[in-house]
Amino acid sequence: MNILILGGGGREHALAWAIQQNPKCDRLIVAPGNAGIAQMAECAALDIEDGGAVASFAEENAVDFVVIGPEAPLAAGVADRLTAAGILCFGPSAAAARLESSKSFTKEICDACAAPTAAYGHFNDADAARAYLRAQGAPIVVKADGLAAGKGVIVAQTLAEAEAAIDDMFGGAFGGAGAEVVIEEFMEGEEASFFVLCDGDTVLPIGTAQDHKRVGEGDTGPNTGGMGAYSPAPVMADAVCDKALEEIVRPTMAEMARRGTPYRGVLYVGLMIRDGQPRLVEYNVRFGDPECQVLMMRLGGQVLDLLLACAEGRLAEARVNWAEDHAMTVVMAARGYPGAYEKGSVISGLDALPEDSTNMVFHAGTKEADGRITASGGRVLNVTARGASLQEARERAYAMVDRIDWPGGFYRRDIGWRAL
Ligand code: AMP
Ligand code: GLY
Repeated sequence: MNILILGGGGREHALAWAIQQNPKCDRLIVAPGNAGIAQMAECAALDIEDGGAVASFAEENAVDFVVIGPEAPLAAGVADRLTAAGILCFGPSAAAARLESSKSFTKEICDACAAPTAAYGHFNDADAARAYLRAQGAPIVVKADGLAAGKGVIVAQTLAEAEAAIDDMFGGAFGGAGAEVVIEEFMEGEEASFFVLCDGDTVLPIGTAQDHKRVGEGDTGPNTGGMGAYSPAPVMADAVCDKALEEIVRPTMAEMARRGTPYRGVLYVGLMIRDGQPRLVEYNVRFGDPECQVLMMRLGGQVLDLLLACAEGRLAEARVNWAEDHAMTVVMAARGYPGAYEKGSVISGLDALPEDSTNMVFHAGTKEADGRITASGGRVLNVTARGASLQEARERAYAMVDRIDWPGGFYRRDIGWRAL
């Protein structure tokens, strides 16, 4: 089959790497891709948020299956447009993608299906929001309702911080995403992510992961998109997974179907776990980045069969074959990230690294110029390895990191510390 993947980060490199191992994959195109993806697949320049353009491109290139990586095209209705054109695709409709694109919508769904989550209020004006804040006290969490590229959540330790966040959001700091604000109870516990496929009816768990969101070692400093991740997440014991499925995921999926907007795709279930009880922090309607990289490392080529079964409504007959292994990815980022960072610094040493089913460097933000790989984003490389234990995966990942020569980059040395 001819397959088109939309996106150009480490998540899409990992998806491409896994999908290409499946013998069903004949031709693989990634739009827009990046320098690492270009070494293994065709890259195409395409406006991936323009459903019409994606559908025309798919028709012209006899694409049989489109896999949508990021949330923006999903929220923009690219899956709807492809489905209307009769093109098979992996990823939810815009209506179902509201589970990520509107935080108040997700809270409303949790209320409707009694899924455990933080108590909350949602507001369209600053005065009412401030009154609620004062009544609740700190610590408290302030969230812009819409998509804000991971920046719309402020975990406020003091009321002053929370009020400043309210002012910023209603002041337009997050554009339209902050016109509505959700204020939530601060939940304590350990955070983990749970990934399930859903075809509108059947739910199939495909793995758990934990990531490190803070830029600094010991989980300190500003939030980032994720500085590293590992799978499985030790805190996601079978009993916790079962509770999350029965109390949160299945009721949500049933409520979405009942509303006439069934969810089809991968659901990223962000959980806070305390005393064995999971509560929902957030949903994302796509694979996590960098969580996808560790999941793909563990799943390999079977992932294409799973994504196809999901898109075709055949999940009831699908099975996941797990190796009892562990995977870790270490993010290498450009100096300055998550603040202002420099682009264009040269990365060497990548050619000499192993590329096999246990070791893989996924590219997140790279370009090729004159035969050299240069950094073109904040998060640039995802150095990923598998092992019989998390310790072994970690040793392999850092052994690769040590062989990469990139003076313009940095990384955390302590990925996985909580689990080890
Ligand atoms: P989100 O974009 O919803 O994932 O929020 C970003 C991060 O903020 C989460 O990964 C959590 O670490 C934290 N967070 C969000 N909501 C809460 C909450 N209600 N209680 C505690 N931490 C939270
Ligand atoms: N790593 C967090 C995310 O993909 O949202």
